[in-house]
This record gives sequence, C-alpha cells and structure tokens, in this order.
Amino acid sequence: MGLQQYLRVIVRWLWLIVLSTIVAAASTYFTTRAQPPVYRTKTTLMIGRTIESASPNAGEIYMGEQLALTYSQLVRREPVLRGAVESLKLNMDWQALAGRVAVNLVPQTQLMEISVVDSNPYRAKALADAIAQQLILLTPEGRSAQSQEREFASEQLADLKAKIAQAKAEIERLTKERDAAISARRIQDLQSQINALETKVSGWQSTYSQLLTFLQGGNVNVIRVVEEATVPTMPIGPDVVGNVLLAAAIGMALAIGGAFLIEYLDNSIKDQAEVEQRLGLPTLGAIARVSNHDAPPEMVAVSDPRSRFSEGYRMLWANLRYSLPASARGRAFLITSVGPDEGKTTIATNLAAVMAQAGQRVILVDSDLRHPSLHEVWNCPNELGLTSLLVGDAPSLEVVLQPTKVQGLQLLPSGPLSPNASELLASPRMGELLEELSELADVTIMDTAPLLAAADASILAALVTGTLLVVKVGHTRMDACAQAVDIIRRVGGNILGIVLNGQALRRGGYYYYYYEDDETRRNGHKGKKAHRRPRQKEKPF
Ligand SMILES: Nc1ncnc2c1ncn2[C@@H]1O[C@H](COP(=O)(O)OP(=O)(O)OP(=O)(O)O)[C@@H](O)[C@H]1O
Ligand SMILES: [Mg+2]
Repeated sequence: MGLQQYLRVIVRWLWLIVLSTIVAAASTYFTTRAQPPVYRTKTTLMIGRTIESASPNAGEIYMGEQLALTYSQLVRREPVLRGAVESLKLNMDWQALAGRVAVNLVPQTQLMEISVVDSNPYRAKALADAIAQQLILLTPEGRSAQSQEREFASEQLADLKAKIAQAKAEIERLTKERDAAISARRIQDLQSQINALETKVSGWQSTYSQLLTFLQGGNVNVIRVVEEATVPTMPIGPDVVGNVLLAAAIGMALAIGGAFLIEYLDNSIKDQAEVEQRLGLPTLGAIARVSNHDAPPEMVAVSDPRSRFSEGYRMLWANLRYSLPASARGRAFLITSVGPDEGKTTIATNLAAVMAQAGQRVILVDSDLRHPSLHEVWNCPNELGLTSLLVGDAPSLEVVLQPTKVQGLQLLPSGPLSPNASELLASPRMGELLEELSELADVTIMDTAPLLAAADASILAALVTGTLLVVKVGHTRMDACAQAVDIIRRVGGNILGIVLNGQALRRGGYYYYYYEDDETRRNGHKGKKAHRRPRQKEKPF
C-alpha cells in the first residue's frame, strides 16, 4: 500500500474516524465532569542527620540514600498504610489507600516525598501526615520513642547535665580560691579538690554522650519531617482536557485501525487507481450513481443528454473510440461483468444512445439470454430476436431489428428464452450474425449475462472486437474481477478496459464535471446559478 492508498482509505472512512473521535471525546467529557474533584498534598521527609552535622562523611550520605530507597519501598505496604488508616480511625481499606499514595525520592538526596490524593483535602493532609508518622515509628528512634528506657535515659541526661554544670561552677570557684591562697598546704588541698571534681565531670560527660547516642538511635537511620503536608486548596482533577484529548486520540486510533482492518478484509473494488493497479487495465469510463432522477438510470442519456451522467457515457465513448484503430469498422463491443446487477444493461443502453447521438449507426444487441431486459428498457416487443435468428425462426436480421426513439439506434432484442443459450451463442451462426451486424452498423453494443455465472459472455468475448468489464464500485470483488479477466484472455478475447459504475462524484474530482444539472436548466441558464456545479447528492443503487 502506497501513501496515496493510505490517504484514500483515510478519506473514505473519514466519517467513521470523525464520528468515533467525537463520540469518545464527548462521552469522556461527560463522565469526567461527573466525577468529584480530587486533591493532592505532599509531605517531605529526610532520612539521616547529615544536614545537621558540621562535617558529614560520605559513608553517612550513602547510607542515608540507601535507607531512603528502603523506606520508599515500605511506604505503600500494609504495615505503614494500615497503621495510618487505623491511627486516623478511617473506615477505609489499606489497599484502596495504596492506589492513592505515591512516593518520590529526590535524586541524589536523602529526601523522600510522599503524596496522597483524596477527594477530601483535609483527609488528604491527615493521611500524608499519618503515613509519615508510621514511617518514623519504623526507625529505631521512633520505636524507642515511647519506651521506659528512653524516658529513664532522658531523665538521666537532664540530671547529668545539671551535675556537670554544677561541678564546673564549683571547679571555677575552687580555682579562683586556689589562685588567691597563700599557704602551700591550702593550695595543695584546693588543687586535689579540683582534680577530684574534674575526674567526676569527665566521667559524667562520657555517660552523657553515651545516653545521647542511645536517645538519637544513631545519626543515619533517622527520619524527620522537613516539610509538612498542607491542606490543598486547588483540586488537581479530574483532568477534563487531558482525559478528553486522550479519549479522542484513542477513539481516532481505533477508528483508523478499524478502517484499515475493514479495507484489508473487504476485497471489493473501491476506486480507479486500485483496480488499474491490481488488474493492469485502463479505466475507460466512470459512471456516476444516478438518483433523484425522473428517468430510470438505463435511460438517462436519452432523457437527459446534457446531464453529467450522460457526460460520463460520452467520456466512455471517447475513450473507447481511441482505444481502437480508426480503420476498425463495424466494431462490436461486449459489455459484461462478473456478477448480476452490476450495471451491464444500464451501461450498454446509455453507451449505445450517446454513440447514436454522436451520429453513429448503432445496433444494441441483447445477448443476455439468461435475464434479457433491453426490450423492457426500450419498450419493444420481444417475440422475435437474437434467439430467433440463431435457431432460424426469423428470416433475416432486418426483420427482427427494432427502431428506437434515438435516431440511429436500433435494438436487437433477445427473443424468446432458450434452454440451451450457450450452445446457440457458440454456434457458427452467431459469428455470421456479427458479420451481418457490422455491415448494418458502425458499432454493435452487446449486453450479456454475468461472466462468472454462465459461459455465454466468454463465448461472445472471443467473437467481438473488444470487451468492457463493468465493475460496480464497492461491490465487485477484486479476485472475481481478476478471474474474469483471466477467462476473457484465455478464450482469446480482447479486454479493452474497465468501466466503473456507481462512482461517487467528488467535488473538484476527476469525475465531477462542470456540467449543468436539472436545477440549472430549470433556472433557464440565468445568472450565476447556471454555472454552479451540481450539488445533487448521490446515493448507492
Ligand atoms: N449508475 C447507476 N446509478 C443508479 N442506478 C444504477 C446505475 N447502474 C445501474 N443501476 C441500477 O442497478 C440495477 C441493475 O442494473 P442493470 O440491470 O443495468 O445491471 P445488470 O448487470 O444488467 O444486471 P443483470 O445481471 O441482472 O442483467 C438497475 O435497477 C439499475 O437501474
Ligand atoms: Mg442486464
């Protein structure tokens, strides 16, 4: 498939693509609008105390980052979330909360952001704080926070602090007294008191630092809230624009995919380029779909010779004329198609009419001996016809030829139905008859039975100057067409090209003729309207 073919598929299915895009976007718009607003809040935690340390070492920073990674994995797990839900006494499943909690580790730092989404902004904040608290409780510091040891240690610490301060004050006083003393005995006595106090202070200081380390639980495995969650004021969702755009894109993509799938599965012929490319045959004409017309499609070239439909037949005649050498006289063209109801009779009738209108002597032959209809189209008797000539029931061709309302156009009806139509058409008499026809007319147009339904068309294809294969757009299958072309070539027939029937008119397109229509004629060719392109809508037949 080339780019042009892709584009053609898109254009053909544009209605579906547009429709599904609009439906997807509209339904998403209304469902999104119906959803309650959602709020998000965020709390930031810090793992470790390196920031408070005057000279943090690389090991501590690394450890802090690793711990942050571990804690981030714990945030959305049961102990933390269940703990948060229970601490807030919420009637909520922890799994449901997990879907609304997100963790983000700020790269290259020991910072961890926990965000919570909720339809209630206050509950969002409470949950974020509670989750942070649950994480803190998992740390050694957090675990010992409520223990009796910690309480005792805190008391001891305060006690030691007071003792150290008191002892230091005493040392200072004793030092001053020693400096002022004169007696050597007194100086020695004061000095030994100072020494004893200093030994005590040093012992207390060592105990103090041990207790401090215990209380802090180490410097690294500590979590602190550095930024508390706030009550969000602006909802973050639902994201109407984002959702609608996404739904529209999905709707469009699905429709495009569906269109290509349908095209892939549908083997019917859709346009000129496709049929020409696949069958290697030229398109000699494209006949528009006729609708809202006074006359039946079979008679359009007679009843409305100036319409764009008739112009399509004139184009076909022009192409046909130049597809054969000018010397070829008494030419006979067979109009066939692969199946029934594809427009053989319609095209044969109108083509014969425009040829006669162009001054040709034309004989239109109903060689469709299975489903003859030309006598009905032209409202002529059918007691005598082709079959009569083939079985010898009619004395001569001239006797069975019927004049028509188009000057220069005569009709050879099918004649009475015969049970052995193929044998009759294959008889030598048929060849002789074609010779006789070529004497009486410049062009013979033959309507036939469907090519794949009976042998009739292939028998005649071998006898005529050229065969036209009618293809009903969007209906005739490509593989059936290829089979028909193969049959015609195998019997030695000369297949001249394709006639597309039911081609939709495209404004500005190849088949959209600048030709007057009924409306312009009714308006008597006056003013701008007389030159306006036809607006008539065609519908499938
Ligand atoms: N271009 C057209 N626009 C509108 N209607 C059309 C067109 N071509 C054919 N039709 C209609 O389609 C129907 C079948 O057309 P037609 O009888 O010409 O087909 P057919 O191939 O001769 O059929 P069969 O195989 O039965 O002889 C008819 O009702 C005809 O009026
Ligand atoms: Mg027919």
